[in-house]
Amino acid sequence: MTAPADQSRMDAIVSLAKRRGFIFPSSEIYGGLNGFWDYGPLGVELKRNLKNAWWHDMVTGHDELATPSGAPGPYEMTGLDCTIIMHPQAWRCSGHFDLFHDWLIDCRESKRRYRYDHLLGRWAGYRGRRVFVLTDASGEEGLTATAAKAQKFFGLRAKQAGEIEWEGDLVPLAGHASREEALAPEASEPGTLTEPREFNLMFETRVGAVAGEADNRAFLRPETAQGIFVNFKNVLDTSRVRVPFGIAQIGKSFRNEITPRNFTFRSREFEQMEIEFFCHPADSQAWYRYWRDRRWRWYLELGLSEGRLQLREHEADELSHYSCGTADIEYAFPFLAEGEFGELEGIAHRGDFDLRSHMEGKLVRSGGELVVETDETGKPRHRGSGRDLSYFDDVSRERFVPHVIEPSAGADRAALAFLCDAYTEDEVPDEHGKPRRRTLLKLHPRLAPVKVAVLPLVKKDGMPEMATELYRLLKPHMACQYDEKGSVGRRYARQDEAGTPFCLTVDGASLGDRTVTLRDRDSLEQVRVPLEEAVDRIRERLA
Ligand code: GAP
Repeated sequence: MTAPADQSRMDAIVSLAKRRGFIFPSSEIYGGLNGFWDYGPLGVELKRNLKNAWWHDMVTGHDELATPSGAPGPYEMTGLDCTIIMHPQAWRCSGHFDLFHDWLIDCRESKRRYRYDHLLGRWAGYRGRRVFVLTDASGEEGLTATAAKAQKFFGLRAKQAGEIEWEGDLVPLAGHASREEALAPEASEPGTLTEPREFNLMFETRVGAVAGEADNRAFLRPETAQGIFVNFKNVLDTSRVRVPFGIAQIGKSFRNEITPRNFTFRSREFEQMEIEFFCHPADSQAWYRYWRDRRWRWYLELGLSEGRLQLREHEADELSHYSCGTADIEYAFPFLAEGEFGELEGIAHRGDFDLRSHMEGKLVRSGGELVVETDETGKPRHRGSGRDLSYFDDVSRERFVPHVIEPSAGADRAALAFLCDAYTEDEVPDEHGKPRRRTLLKLHPRLAPVKVAVLPLVKKDGMPEMATELYRLLKPHMACQYDEKGSVGRRYARQDEAGTPFCLTVDGASLGDRTVTLRDRDSLEQVRVPLEEAVDRIRERLA
């Protein structure tokens, strides 16, 4: 049996995110919109710092003259910023039009809609009557929900609950019970569930002024990757990159998720940070291993706890029909049951599937080969662009369709993981030496929304003037806040909660010797530094 999720910790994180302006429900004054979230003043900085760190570490900071540790050789990196709405044929050829769906199931009685694969249940019996009790929660939460549901269904009091005979643990509905035997989570009787139906996750829209015409239908992209594939030739022809090289993109993606849940973890609008890395087929396995390990290290370098991260290679039966290898980087989010992990990023070896699909048309696997899917007349079901997306290596004089390694990360999920990981409660002495509970975000300085806060100890005696001078020295170089409101203890507490790694305090001694106190958020160490050196001292610590 799985241990309970750390729901109280998650509740505290959600509450801090709202209270301190990291994340708000979208259009909250109208009651919010399920699966949509806004980033507040601190959240926008956190997410932007995260995306900038990714872009710097993967693209602009990459040294294409060197062979990074673990890489088969040197490589180049470049970037793109593509449109959210693309030619609809791109989604037909990529497979999203036909295959990007979930199965959903409706309850006729409660009018609730569920993802078919999220419905779990267990058999309950009482005095000869058996029912398969369903829940859409997993782990301990699911067990509690099914226990309460069965007790109500059999009309038992709490003290009779022990008389229910349970058979086995929570298992999926599919393959374990019929819909007639299943008691839906919000229903009073079994047999209320409809036949499961396919539901495409792409949001549809119309392009141009003519409404209602079938051929002006378009889609909001469900991933940024396809914009990269369709521009492969443009990038090759207009820049000096040579295979192996990668194209990176950060941008919004949209999925009409059936059950958005767990704060921002599964949203309907979110941002992805994707790389499509093009390489020679013979080297592709080595590049796959390189990218898997490189991306894993990136999360650790930015401070995620190794004990809460997991690198999981997919089993053969989990792989997409085109993939020769996929690994997920997963994080133990506090809303998950103990031992469960949620995906932060997938690193997939996609072979030549994508470039060939956009050349030839939608591909399917047939007898171990990828072939163009045909309709009943023998024509391609979804015709490709017909453009030649192969690559000619003018050194080896070889022409080939590059293989693709795709590290695909979610910016919102990463921001959530860093927020969860950073959330800390501890006890520290206040300004009078008394123990005080504090909440802090131990964010990596690169990710912290504010890098340094400047605080005059009191609002008189020339301290605000000197603090203002210091603030103006720092401001051109880093995100800096000036705060003179409330006791200094309260102001430290505010900065700790916002994840600010350093505070500089101007006090009585500062007026005499022009030194200020530099306080470290995590160690609480305080050192005096000359005001004129404050910028350099903070920059050293941020590096
Ligand atoms: N191009 C490959 C691709 O899109 P994916 O595993 O479907 O792969 C990549 O998505 C990443 O995007 C995920 O690992 C996750 O971080 C993020 N992501 C996917 N769906 C999401 C959602 N509904 N809400 C938030 N992030 C999501």
